[in-house]
Amino acid sequence: MYDKGKIIAGLIIFLGLVTLPFFYNKEKASSKPEPSLDTPGIQQMSQPQCVKSADFMRANHMKLLNEWRDSVVRDGQRAYGIIDDVKYDKSLQKTCMHCHSNKKAFCDRCHSYANVSVYCWDCHIEPDN
Ligand code: HEC
Ligand code: HEC
Ligand code: HEC
Repeated sequence: MYDKGKIIAGLIIFLGLVTLPFFYNKEKASSKPEPSLDTPGIQQMSQPQCVKSADFMRANHMKLLNEWRDSVVRDGQRAYGIIDDVKYDKSLQKTCMHCHSNKKAFCDRCHSYANVSVYCWDCHIEPDN
């Protein structure tokens, strides 16, 4: 006679092990990145806002950065404009990273989720947090 109890227990453990990766992946895929806006630069603003709408920025921040770089490097046009009474330049370090000084909890959180590597920091200085 074989032991029914042991076979059933064995089957349950086996099923648990083969389905574990599925549960694990589901968990991972559903944990969307939540970029944090909790920085001194943003807290100081009377009306927290980006250089463009959040929707626009989500989809187009890379293009905007390229436009800024071309404008500065090719045309010598540095001034961007005024947001919430503060004058800004078209600058990755001085402007984007002034407000988004929490690079790890903002830029990096999205980029590692999307598996994008950004080489800008080879030359531009990143905030050390
Ligand atoms: C004056 C402060 C300020 C500056 C400068 C600024 N941001 Fe923002 N940014 C914000 C705020 C505040 C939000 C959230 C806006 C909202 O939710 O309406 C935001 C939102 C964003 C988002 C969307 C985040 C999300 O949750 O999906 C991206 C991407 C972004 N910014 C990138 C940049 C980049 C790149 C630059 C430079 C080109 C930049 N920001 C410059 C304050 C700023
Ligand atoms: C809401 C999520 C999100 C946030 C926040 C965000 N990014 Fe991105 N970023 C992306 C995604 C997604 C891509 C890849 C887009 C693509 O390839 O079309 C990207 C691409 C880029 C690229 C182009 C990289 C390349 O080589 O193609 C740059 C530059 C960049 N991000 C800069 C920044 C900076 C600087 C910040 C922080 C101030 C930031 N991003 C914040 C989602 C985000
Ligand atoms: C090989 C070095 C190098 C790399 C890599 C690099 N840059 Fe630059 N970038 C420069 C130099 C040099 C300037 C000119 C600095 C100046 O005149 O203020 C500049 C200027 C800029 C400017 C305008 C000035 C400012 O203060 O920001 C922007 C915007 C910019 N780069 C964005 C980017 C982005 C976005 C990336 C990544 C996709 C990137 N750069 C990668 C070297 C680099």
